[in-house]
Amino acid sequence: MDPSKPSAAEIWKALNILDDFLSGGFIREHPELIAAPAPDAADAGAPAMGSPAAAGQDAAPVRAAAAVPAGDSLASVAEAVSGCTACALCTGRKTAVPGEGSAEPLVLLVGEGPGEEEDKSGRPFVGRAGQYLDSWLKPIGLDRASCFVTNVVKCRPPQNREPRPEEIQACAPYLDRQIALLKPTLILCLGRIAAHRLLEGNASLGALRGKVHSLSGVPLVVTYHPSAVLRDQALKRPVWEDLKLLKSLL
Ligand code: URA
Ligand code: SF4
Repeated sequence: MDPSKPSAAEIWKALNILDDFLSGGFIREHPELIAAPAPDAADAGAPAMGSPAAAGQDAAPVRAAAAVPAGDSLASVAEAVSGCTACALCTGRKTAVPGEGSAEPLVLLVGEGPGEEEDKSGRPFVGRAGQYLDSWLKPIGLDRASCFVTNVVKCRPPQNREPRPEEIQACAPYLDRQIALLKPTLILCLGRIAAHRLLEGNASLGALRGKVHSLSGVPLVVTYHPSAVLRDQALKRPVWEDLKLLKSLL
């Protein structure tokens, strides 16, 4: 090997840094997170971002083939949500928040429930956590226009408490209909409430993150909720690993 020429690993590292600077800066704070690709990763279309969790994953992005009842649409879900009284959260809401974004999203992002700003505006993830979420999407080549963003419950729980099981259950048909209509290529669950809503079981978030699950054939990745990461900076690194895993599946 010619020592005057950069190695593949050096080129990869430089490309990552360049990509980061062009896209807004998640990696700059965590240069240690940059990993070299497997030798033939680029050719094989294999996970290229070096996440250990991506190794051995061959889940091909597919659009789920869930049946959509005749005549159903995202607009009719939104309309039903806006007048819904199926659980007690309807009494405290200003505006229901059905969710928004691409009707053919690369990624469906699922949060917990609307907060104060969302309740005021009727739009998902527009407050502080939402702005932080935007900064996660950019470095992996996503934005709101290429995703659909929604929540497990569509109405704000009082004082931003966690939604209760009976509220999650009452609201479940709306998210199910959205998933069937959107047929997302990938799903990203933001936090435990979303992960437990869409996956079986009661595992901790630490146990659920870092791997690719499947929801009726749609690859599903779990990571921490942006609000949790705003409270605990130590979660930034695992989130970035999860985002790289997601990017490797795109
Ligand atoms: N947190 C959520 O889980 N969802 C939102 O829409 C806003 C904050
Ligand atoms: Fe209806 Fe869901 Fe709002 Fe409860 S949270 S009132 S089920 S839309």
